[in-house]
Parts: sequence; C-alpha cells; structure tokens
Amino acid sequence: MSSQQFIAIDENPEQDQSYYSGYDSESSEATEKSTNTLKSSIFDYRFENGRRYHAYRDGKYMFPNDDAEQERLDIIHHTYLLLLNGELHMAPIVPEPTRILDIGTGTGIWAIDAGDRRYPDAEVIGTDLSPIQPAWVPPNVHFQIDDAESEWTWAKESFDMIHIRHLSGAIKDWDALLKEVYKNLKPGGWVDLSEYDMHLFSDDGTYHEGLGLYKFYDLVNQAAAESGRVFNIAGSLKASIEAAGFINVHQEMRKIPVGTWPADQKQKTMGAYILLTAESAFDAFGMRLLTNFHGMEVTEVNKLVNSAKKDVHDRRIHSYSKHHLYWAQKPLP
Ligand SMILES: C[S@@+](CC[C@H](N)C(=O)[O-])C[C@H]1O[C@@H](n2cnc3c(N)ncnc32)[C@H](O)[C@@H]1O
Repeated sequence: MSSQQFIAIDENPEQDQSYYSGYDSESSEATEKSTNTLKSSIFDYRFENGRRYHAYRDGKYMFPNDDAEQERLDIIHHTYLLLLNGELHMAPIVPEPTRILDIGTGTGIWAIDAGDRRYPDAEVIGTDLSPIQPAWVPPNVHFQIDDAESEWTWAKESFDMIHIRHLSGAIKDWDALLKEVYKNLKPGGWVDLSEYDMHLFSDDGTYHEGLGLYKFYDLVNQAAAESGRVFNIAGSLKASIEAAGFINVHQEMRKIPVGTWPADQKQKTMGAYILLTAESAFDAFGMRLLTNFHGMEVTEVNKLVNSAKKDVHDRRIHSYSKHHLYWAQKPLP
C-alpha cells in the first residue's frame, strides 16, 4: 500500500485490513466510487474560528489538525526526545519487534522515527482520525485512518508494542482502550503510554491562581468536563493498565519546563521548545472547547489565550508540565 492512500478502515467493519491495503488497485466502478466517498469524508475538513479540524468522525476530537498544529506536534516530539534522552519509548522490548502500532499518530513523526531510525526491520503502523501524515515515508511505515475507540480489526495478538502519546482529552473510556490494546499485543508485548496533566505546576509558588495562564487551564478543564471529556487522567492511568491484565507496570513522572527560566541547559532547551509551541498551543487547546461547550465568545477566548501567552514568556513564572510515562507488559502464556 502506498502511504499516500488514506482509507477509513472501520467505515466498513465487514472488510479486513488486507482489503483496504489493496484498495486503490481495485478497478471496479463500485470500489472506486466508495473509495472516493471515503476519501472525501476524510478530507472534508471542518473550519471553525480560524482553525481547521478533522472530518472523519466529525466533532469527536477537540484540537485542530492544521499546519500550526502539525508544527506544534513535531516540536513536542523533539522535546520528548530530550525528555527520554534520545529514546523513543521506555518499554524494554526484547527481542527486536517485528510489528508496532502507534495510535493517534498525529503527523506520524514518532512512527517514522521508529521505523526509520530505531526499527528498520519492523513494520510500523500509525493510525489517526486525520490524514495529516507525510506521503514520503520509509517503506516499512504505513498510516491508516481509524478511530481508536471503535472496535479494532487487526489480527489479534499481532503487535510487539503499542505506542500511545498524548491522547488525553481524546479518549472517553481508557479502560476499554487499554483492554483493546492488551488483546492486540502478542504475549510478552509492551504498551508504552505517555500523557500530560492539563495544568501547570511550580515548586516556588510562581504559578498561581491569579495568573491568566492558570485561569486558562482551569476553564479548559471545566469546558472539557462539560463536553463529557476528562483531560486530567494522566496521573491515574495505572489502575486501568492493571485492570486490563498487564504485568510489570511501570510509572514515572518527568517534568518539562515552560519557558527558558531553568538554569540547566537541557531544561532550558526543552522550555524554549515549549515556548515555540505556545504561539498556537493555547488556541489549539481552548478554542473549540471554550466556544462550543463553555459558551465563550471568540473574542473572550482570544483575550484569555493572549494573557496565557504573556505569562509563559514571563521568566519570573517558573512553571512546568508533568508528563506521566507508563510501560507495561502482556504476560507470556
Ligand atoms: C495531541 S495529538 C498527538 C499525536 C502523536 N501521538 C504525537 O505524540 O505526536 C493527538 C492525535 O490523536 C488523534 N486522535 C484523537 N482521537 C482519536 C481517536 N479516537 N482515534 C484515533 N486518533 C485520534 C488526533 O487526530 C491527533 O492527531
């Protein structure tokens, strides 16, 4: 399958993966017609308040998928490489994996890095609601349009690792998702999961309730709850991982500074990366949630976003985000 083709694999649950893999080579008129319908339903993006959102499963996901968002996701990937000391994951997978799945792959940057740099002999598959992955990718990397919350149609027990990064606020039922992940891993396979808290922290009280930045996160969390989504699950996923049946469950929290305030050079670099993302991040996190679910006008949201942006550039505010890293293994029979 060429990586330019984006087919919604669960539009027709009767069909298995291999059918869709050969989709474009099918020549019948009916097939072409339905391919076009699927393609247009995937690319028929929704535009709201200056941002572009996914079309497949319209309205399901709250963050945009436009160029600014893609740039943000790629910068976060580089920040994570620093956070993980150049590694792509925490799970100690041995032997070398042959099949890896990256759910909610975004621009596919992790999947491409994994397939190109780390596991050139493995097949790496990335799935997402948005077809925003590049066309030219290593031959062992593939992308598919799929809703991770629909029933999975992969061959059971076929992945050595399933990677999940930053789906906070996107997933309604983490218990169900992790059960599906468990079913689809080979015995001995690993889940590798990283999520962040939707609030900031400081150790010296410089991040506090009086700030626009603080108010922004508070309102976004309120709006998320009003929309039926919970953003702040990052620290509490261990129970869901254990309930799914995993063993060797590890949890580690690491901090990423917001801004260039830290003295340490590596921390400062990570903070500088976050500042680069701040230009579009607050709008991305807040615009759809606050206007659609919290009754705020666009001008009000813009004001809030601007005051959050001003605060992250204030070096007297020593804020950081908390990133919860989990890795856990499916038992061998
Ligand atoms: C914050 S981005 C993270 C992207 C990527 N994991 C990374 O770390 O670079 C979340 C991604 O998950 C996708 N997403 C949200 N809900 C999803 C779902 N139910 N099924 C599949 N992908 C989903 C979004 O379209 C978006 O690209």
